[in-house]
Amino acid sequence: YVIGIDLGTSAVKALLLDKSGTIIAEASREYPLIHEHSGWSEQLPTDWVDGTLVAIRELVQTAGVPADSIEGISFSGQMHGLVLLDESGHPVRNAILWNDTRTTLECREIEQLLGSVLLTITRNPALEGFTLPKILWVRKHEPEIFAQAKIFVLPKDYVRYRLTGELHMDYSDAAGTLLLDVANKAWSETVLQAVGLPISFCPPLVESHAQTGTLLPEVAASTGLTTATKVFAGGADNACGAIGSGILKDGLTMCSIGTSGVILSYEQGSGNDFQGKVHFFNHGKQDAFYAMGVTLAAGYSLSWFKNNFAKGESFDELLKGLEDVRPGANGLLFTPYLVGERTPHPDAVIRGSFIGIDGSHERIHFARAVMEGITFSLNESVHMFRQAGKTVDTIISIGGGAQNPVWLQMQADIFNADVVALENEQGPGLGAAMLAAYGCGWFESLEACADQFVKIASTYKPESEAVEAYAGLFQIYQEVYAQTKGLNE
Ligand code: XUL
Repeated sequence: YVIGIDLGTSAVKALLLDKSGTIIAEASREYPLIHEHSGWSEQLPTDWVDGTLVAIRELVQTAGVPADSIEGISFSGQMHGLVLLDESGHPVRNAILWNDTRTTLECREIEQLLGSVLLTITRNPALEGFTLPKILWVRKHEPEIFAQAKIFVLPKDYVRYRLTGELHMDYSDAAGTLLLDVANKAWSETVLQAVGLPISFCPPLVESHAQTGTLLPEVAASTGLTTATKVFAGGADNACGAIGSGILKDGLTMCSIGTSGVILSYEQGSGNDFQGKVHFFNHGKQDAFYAMGVTLAAGYSLSWFKNNFAKGESFDELLKGLEDVRPGANGLLFTPYLVGERTPHPDAVIRGSFIGIDGSHERIHFARAVMEGITFSLNESVHMFRQAGKTVDTIISIGGGAQNPVWLQMQADIFNADVVALENEQGPGLGAAMLAAYGCGWFESLEACADQFVKIASTYKPESEAVEAYAGLFQIYQEVYAQTKGLNE
């Protein structure tokens, strides 16, 4: 057996799989987000560790399999979050997360220091969510705390460190720090020098399927596992989502709607240049890459809507009658900029909108408009890939957005592509388990593992009438950003 840990923004989920790829047991634990000021988003690294240990213990207990038959464990992690550690490996402050937008000034500073070299080396522009601006923010605003920090890691690396006592970072997660020379797979001396950080501040780099240790005795004792359990590096959640949905060769695209939403497209080499308009990161598959557009508030927009207008109700109750509302939500349009946007507008200040409200609209029209608005935002990334000459005709859909058949059809109609849903879809958690399975030597490649573990459930085909209706609305949607830009500045 292997275990895949998905360290998310709202919860950690653990999966136990057998050699056929069947999920034997699942367990999860939630943890809180800390929003001390508008735009700030933090978490306690110790909450991640506690949640992970409890979830593994529950997993092992419910699975009822012998502890020594669990061969390996690996991780998928929320990206970009800054964890600063002191000399003895203790966090010096809360982690600052990917959806924290306090670092606009630091982004401008990085741009000034590096100019176009930044994009050439890191393949990405300076964005508030990435890790380097967060490091500079702490150095500037909390110098005494920063003085204690000796090294930084990303969320899942900290959890892995606490499980094994070894500090590492894999390329797919390191790519989101803005410190990695993405094509050459090394920490960039040029970027480090320009911002005045020593290379010792960066942990050793490894492949996602590399073994990085075994479980510490106290961890084995508290989880019910053994010290022989091999621990593999794992990867960024989007890279693991790609692995877990079989995005392992050119021509394949993924749509993942979790708290954030992404459209991710496989890249075999580092040659394609998107000029920083979409993110360009290392894949969890060795020497491969992916390009990706991000909607910051995807599932978050729908959760926000439910929490405010359907408090105490389930998503099923909120979405009852969704299929009876026609595409376009009777003229109601939503932009999902609740916490700013990334693609195609790198803008931490912009906020969302409902436009076209009619006296006949009911809550379900608003719910449908929210789902359409999220999907329109993701379609901007699809559009960008197509403009760059990529073919996007089949999209594997994962995450919360793949749980609802109406939303899957909506994706097919808005993206104007076949949308594929998977059986027992587990996205990033499955990708993490696959890295452990491959790392353990069960398969000769990740592709062979995907052939066994990733199974298609159904395909949603675009319907021409809806495609046409949405194409018209998408044009109006695209205009809303510029028209509402002044509102919150
Ligand atoms: C990607 C990003 C989010 C996080 C969510 O750049 O910021 O998708 O990975 O955990």
